[in-house]
Amino acid sequence: MKKIFFTTPIFYVNDLPHIGHAYTIIICDTLAKFYNLDEYDVLFTTGTDEHGLKVEKAAKKNNTDPKVFVDKVSQNFLNLSKKLKISNTDFVRTTEERHKKAAKNFWKLLEEKNQIYLSNYKGWYSVRDEAFYQEKELTKEGSKFFTQDGEEVQWIEEESFFFKLSEWDEKLLKYFDENPDFIMPASRKNEVISFVKSGLKDLSISRTSFKWGIKVEDTNNHIMYVWIDALVNYLTSIDFPKTTKDQFCFWENCIHIIGKDILKFHAVYWPAMLMAAEIPLPKRIFAHGWWTNEGKKISKSIGNVIDPNAMIEKYGLDQFKYFLLREVTLGQDGDFSEHSFKARINSELSNNLGNLIQRTLKFTSKNFKNKMPAEIEVLGKKDLLNEVYDLLPKVKKHMQSLEINKAIDEIVAMLTKLNKFMDLAEPWNSIKINPKKTANDLSTLIECFRVIGILLQPFIPDASEEILNILNIEKNKRKFKFVNFKYKINKDHCINEPKPLFPRYD
Ligand code: MSP
Repeated sequence: MKKIFFTTPIFYVNDLPHIGHAYTIIICDTLAKFYNLDEYDVLFTTGTDEHGLKVEKAAKKNNTDPKVFVDKVSQNFLNLSKKLKISNTDFVRTTEERHKKAAKNFWKLLEEKNQIYLSNYKGWYSVRDEAFYQEKELTKEGSKFFTQDGEEVQWIEEESFFFKLSEWDEKLLKYFDENPDFIMPASRKNEVISFVKSGLKDLSISRTSFKWGIKVEDTNNHIMYVWIDALVNYLTSIDFPKTTKDQFCFWENCIHIIGKDILKFHAVYWPAMLMAAEIPLPKRIFAHGWWTNEGKKISKSIGNVIDPNAMIEKYGLDQFKYFLLREVTLGQDGDFSEHSFKARINSELSNNLGNLIQRTLKFTSKNFKNKMPAEIEVLGKKDLLNEVYDLLPKVKKHMQSLEINKAIDEIVAMLTKLNKFMDLAEPWNSIKINPKKTANDLSTLIECFRVIGILLQPFIPDASEEILNILNIEKNKRKFKFVNFKYKINKDHCINEPKPLFPRYD
């Protein structure tokens, strides 16, 4: 079986889950489900990033011990993954023993390869980003310095271990050149290349001014820089340092889905450290864009954070997922507005899909006693049925290039064609004069619904399941290989009473 591996970033637990977290999870889950249906062996991991100054401060603010605090708040993310009904194969928490072991071993490997040295760090640090900044990246207001996002940075001076990042610029650039799809989309790759070309400095990878983190072995007070700790989570889930050959097959086909804000960590620091440790690199890093809310940046201080739980309660899981996947091209920013949300759901899910299935099957139920009315035949290349079977390779091609919205586009365009077909066929009239034609037309539509039900499973799993249940398709006949005339619905196959799939919003 072919192997593939998807990862979300692991989430800081100082915050409640919001749309940004849900978005990354939904993208990975859609891809994981897609490849599962395509007979791949799939790993899909997510988790929580529980160490560092930011989390330590959040615990303090709550008057709680950090461990008690992270145990409680990581539950919010676990609950979100349940609410999103995701197909993850692992949930990594950085406070777990297996992860600490992996991180310590990773460090040891870097040390053995002579990639770490002790010195002093002097410079700017943003607690919110858990990131170091050079003065040229900041703006000055009076005596204070701020990041591009308006976050005030603090000056730190302390003893620190350093990773020899500066040794890796040429090798990184060569790797990017030889593996043009390593960083996607292309615009982000170009950003990374110019960042690397502007010169890399050695990276401070330990802190001594706080305690909440993984201790560096054989030191008194050094705590691993939280980003090193966090990045290793991807290896934790494949049992590093005891990763087997088989697990490395997943790793070499691993796609990190991340937000554009954390690209530098994933596309510069991480590959450099992996190269330094002589561990193979994952296959790809894909940076998605950011969501705004009604045109405004989402921020706690503005109070416009979108709670995915509330959205799912209000509109339904499939609707929420569908909108996020469909509204923007993966990689670009998107705006969440309830107006466009409702418009999208009404036109594509309620009308184009739900209503078409409902009216076709209602009519079939009334006139053909809930049975497949006729034996279908594929006529010619341009036949509707051939077109629907041809959707599979088209959808696959888009999914392989991570163009999820284009994959959905193909299905939506097909649904539009099916609606036109239904309108032209006018079964409500033809049944009076040519019932044989009516039976053929309805059967063609019903077979198309079977195929579309199968294809839509990664994107709107609940509704697809409902469609396939209504069509009475056996559970073990829902994988992509069944998108074929060979597995068509036969005449007299029983079909269940249709139920409305998506309510319309006013
Ligand atoms: N803990 C780090 C990641 C470590 S991975 C080794 C982190 N965590 S986070 O919780 O702050 O962010 C997680 C993800 O949420 C990031 O990919 C980020 O891009 C994403 N988003 C946060 N706000 C977002 C939006 N408004 N829109 C889309 N995604 C956004 O960073």
